[in-house]
Amino acid sequence: DLAHMEDLARPLVELPDKLRGIGLEKDVAIPQIAVIGDQSSGKSSVLEAISGIPFPRGSGLVTRCATELRMQIAETFLARAYTTEKRDAVATLGTVAGVERAIAQLTEDLCGAQGFSAESIVIELAAPHVPHLTVIDLPGIVRTTTAGQAQGVIQQVDGLLRSYMKQPSTIMLVVVPSNQDVATVGGLELAAEYDPDGVRTMGVLTKPDLINPGAERDAVAVLLNETKPLKLGYVMVKNRSQRDIADDMSLADAHAAERAYFAEHCLFGALDGALFTVAHLKQRLSALLVARIRAELPRMRAEIDAALAAARAGLARLGRGLEHCPPEERVAAVARHVDAYSACVAGSTTGRYGGWL
Ligand code: GDP
Ligand code: NA
Ligand code: MG
Repeated sequence: DLAHMEDLARPLVELPDKLRGIGLEKDVAIPQIAVIGDQSSGKSSVLEAISGIPFPRGSGLVTRCATELRMQIAETFLARAYTTEKRDAVATLGTVAGVERAIAQLTEDLCGAQGFSAESIVIELAAPHVPHLTVIDLPGIVRTTTAGQAQGVIQQVDGLLRSYMKQPSTIMLVVVPSNQDVATVGGLELAAEYDPDGVRTMGVLTKPDLINPGAERDAVAVLLNETKPLKLGYVMVKNRSQRDIADDMSLADAHAAERAYFAEHCLFGALDGALFTVAHLKQRLSALLVARIRAELPRMRAEIDAALAAARAGLARLGRGLEHCPPEERVAAVARHVDAYSACVAGSTTGRYGGWL
């Protein structure tokens, strides 16, 4: 299971957080998991099922900016929430319900009642029973604007999605509703644009319970990687329906219901069980994440080495410090600087500072 996976590869799994801990994400990209797909395809539901943290979800445009959830294992629950717009305004949260409310509130703050925002919400979460992952909820691909939506929203969302997809460190979960023709869903072509080799694109089939009777075989063909093959394949999951959410079904109950649904299904139940459930999706993701980190290490190392070399060159340009000189040399050096400065202020272009200013 996931915990076992993490034990085997703990140093690699923890590396992203360690690198973030020293502020390195500004200089090098660190592996993360993002969801790509049409509106209401089930993206937030998938992330919620993976993380155990309820992302706002529902019919229509619920997710209107990127939400980055950075999880790490700790003995007690502690969460920090802020937006990239106001990094100093950090809210500290002690419960899962608090996190859910914070995401909703910060979405309102950033996006207002209607719009999208290119700024993102960041949730840093340390808790006992979370997977050691960073997941990013994204707005759905917008193909046509509806009444009340600002023009330009298509390009805005497109730009936001691409900004995540182009990062080689982003693992893309393309969310495909099982009750739709895979040829018409958004996301797969978009993902292929940024990941032509298919090394960081995985398909997730949602809403199997909503497939029209008779169309199940089409969904199975997608799941078995026959219709629209992806190198990393597909996993099928069943999340809570709008009705289940209204009925306050817990995530634990939803997982149990999901397992029973696939085990008892006349068609799905006869196939390899590893193709189904959020639990198996988590397992595949964990293995993929470790593989990505391993593959990315040389590039990350090269980027770190380049940054280090630039910093060293900058230091070398500054020369030796005066603290190593005898007192009379320090006095002379200060006098030279004063002369050079005076010359510079007087308008000379030949003094030490003159050429610079
Ligand atoms: P997003 O817009 O892609 O983030 O989609 P959401 O996660 O908000 O889900 C959209 C709607 O589909 C919600 O009402 C969910 O409850 C529902 N939904 C998601 N997954 C499933 C599923 O597997 N089965 C059913 N019946 N409904 C689902
Ligand atoms: Na939605
Ligand atoms: Mg959503």
